[in-house]
Amino acid sequence: MTASAGLASHARLSRLTDDVGLLYGADWNPEQWHPDVWREDVALMRAAGVNLVTVGVFSWATLEPRPGRYELDWLDRVVDLAADHGILVDLATPTASPPPWLGTRWPGTRAVTADGVRLSHGSRNHFCPSSPHYRERALSVARVLAARYGAHPGVRMWHVGNEYGQVCFCEHCADAFRAWLRERHGTLDELNRAWGTTFWSQRYDEWTQVLPPRAAPYLINPTQRLDHRRFASDQLLALYREQRDVIREHAPGVPVTTNLMGFHHPTDYWRWAPHLDVVADDVYGDPADPADVVRVALQHDLARGLAGGRPWLVMEQAAGAVSWRPHNVPKTAAQLRLDSLRAVARGADGSCFFQWRASVVGAERFHSALVPHAGPDTALHRAVVAHGAELARLRPVVGARVPARTALVVDWASWWAAEEPGGPSDRLRVLPQLLAYYRPLWAAGIGVDVVPPGADLDAYDLVVAPQLFLVDDAHVPGLRRVVERGGVLLLGPFSGVTDQDAHVRTGRFPAPFADLVGGSGEEHVPLAAAGVRVRSALLGDGQVHDWAERLRVDDGEALATVDGGDLDGCPLVLRRRHTGGGEGWYVGALLAQDGVAAVVRACLDAAGVAGPVGVRADPDVEVVRRGDVVFCLNASDRPRAVELDTVCGTPGAPWHDLLTDTAVAGRVPLPPHGALALIERTR
Ligand code: GLA
Ligand code: ZN
Repeated sequence: MTASAGLASHARLSRLTDDVGLLYGADWNPEQWHPDVWREDVALMRAAGVNLVTVGVFSWATLEPRPGRYELDWLDRVVDLAADHGILVDLATPTASPPPWLGTRWPGTRAVTADGVRLSHGSRNHFCPSSPHYRERALSVARVLAARYGAHPGVRMWHVGNEYGQVCFCEHCADAFRAWLRERHGTLDELNRAWGTTFWSQRYDEWTQVLPPRAAPYLINPTQRLDHRRFASDQLLALYREQRDVIREHAPGVPVTTNLMGFHHPTDYWRWAPHLDVVADDVYGDPADPADVVRVALQHDLARGLAGGRPWLVMEQAAGAVSWRPHNVPKTAAQLRLDSLRAVARGADGSCFFQWRASVVGAERFHSALVPHAGPDTALHRAVVAHGAELARLRPVVGARVPARTALVVDWASWWAAEEPGGPSDRLRVLPQLLAYYRPLWAAGIGVDVVPPGADLDAYDLVVAPQLFLVDDAHVPGLRRVVERGGVLLLGPFSGVTDQDAHVRTGRFPAPFADLVGGSGEEHVPLAAAGVRVRSALLGDGQVHDWAERLRVDDGEALATVDGGDLDGCPLVLRRRHTGGGEGWYVGALLAQDGVAAVVRACLDAAGVAGPVGVRADPDVEVVRRGDVVFCLNASDRPRAVELDTVCGTPGAPWHDLLTDTAVAGRVPLPPHGALALIERTR
């Protein structure tokens, strides 16, 4: 896949997993503890099967207590201690949280909000991404670490910053934004065209007049905002890249990464992926919400997509409770294990946590950790130890791929543009739509690759774009080709509306695809409270709420039609079957989940895509194939069972559960949140 073409092949995750198998570990923050505790830590890590620790993420003030005065002895001891115990070190640059001296001496290193408020230290992440002093000092500390530890045999991965997401509106950032705009648009005339500045008298005649979208009286130019989001993501990426380059000079061949956050709004990870040697993701499912496992599964499929199908790594997850929700329900021991296995099933070659030992000071004192405040003699820590042992038994999945013939198209620019204020309705939201179209795929055990709209889609029989509002001209041919070569393309509501500058495409919509779906629209229709009545053999008769579109059939078919009211007779679901077997589908409504599921199932049938593991008998049991291993994960808190003959290949085949290292056959019970990792043994 294009997104990861730049991954340095020599610096892959396999450089670690070839040595130790699946990675298991945590952020380790020894600067918060006395050295006696460090020794206890490494002994406990060994006992738990922990083989990777991320060190130093927030240690800038300890490493450089005064400008240019580095104190690294403690880190020498920490890295050596881990290495002596066979624990690989993922060494962080501490640049996410500058020490107070930086912002005091150079106030311009502190970020400014859109309202003009300059942020203070006292929390974290208060830096301005464009500040020359921040960048210089961040590079200095990164260079000192890289020079000192680049050749250390124990340092096997590098971790730049933490969860990049800062957006700043200061003067430095305004300058950097202008430079970025010159690069994108070339001339001021072109910028005026792209931003449509004839509207509301916004025409620029000097570059210095161009600003980030700071606080303003009313709605701000949508293309200005869109370009600013693109810029802000690229600017953070530039920070990552300059530190990565310094590390690479000193540590050639050692993978460099930073921790991503799934569908993280400020950062277009498709643009980041080529610059990451390892895709590492932070995942915080909500244990109190049984439905959240589907969102988490989708996030894992995104991580795998960002890695171009190659193994990725869970960098951070909670072992129990987080401390940032209003009411922090902890994971049970079974959920801790199940969440970790879900990631492995979906392509992760490692499962790491935030954090190793629970802090007794600071803002995250009440966040769970692998070693709780009460110590290792706890149910949670016993679960950690048990899980380490079973991960070691999953060596057969290391490096294995998750097969998929279905692609889900996700685009950050489209997401940003679709939800810009001033649209028809705020009830149609991109992530809920993605999830609605993904959920039936998840429920059917269908392998799904999450891809960008410019991906090579030729490997997919079904391509689903739940809400592709903005479509770049350059991506139109690739999407059209799905149908032209005989595949199925399913487009959700409010798709194909604008071009890459967020200018509305004129003519009947979805403008670049209307001929493919056999019908077209002329009006987006947010609905009054009663909604509209719909008749459909496919969906069943029912009501549609919140969103419909005034569509008509051209040379395709209507699979759902409005009954009554102003939209009476308008189709809401369109399909056109093409010679050559291709099908174009368009849904012009916010359908209830059942309706979406019916459409998705029909598209799966049309594309001839079935679950990679046969019939999925029980909706509570998530079934995922990775390489030769079939994972069965009980996503519910009720006991379930798996009939091996219906789940997997050959009836009566001898199966082995890798997690327990035992033979299993027939009907295998699955306790609440229980799991199996099945591999077929040759007789
Ligand atoms: C993220 C951050 C960590 C910590 C956890 C808490 O993963 O990277 O530093 O704040 O969240 O959940
Ligand atoms: Zn700034």
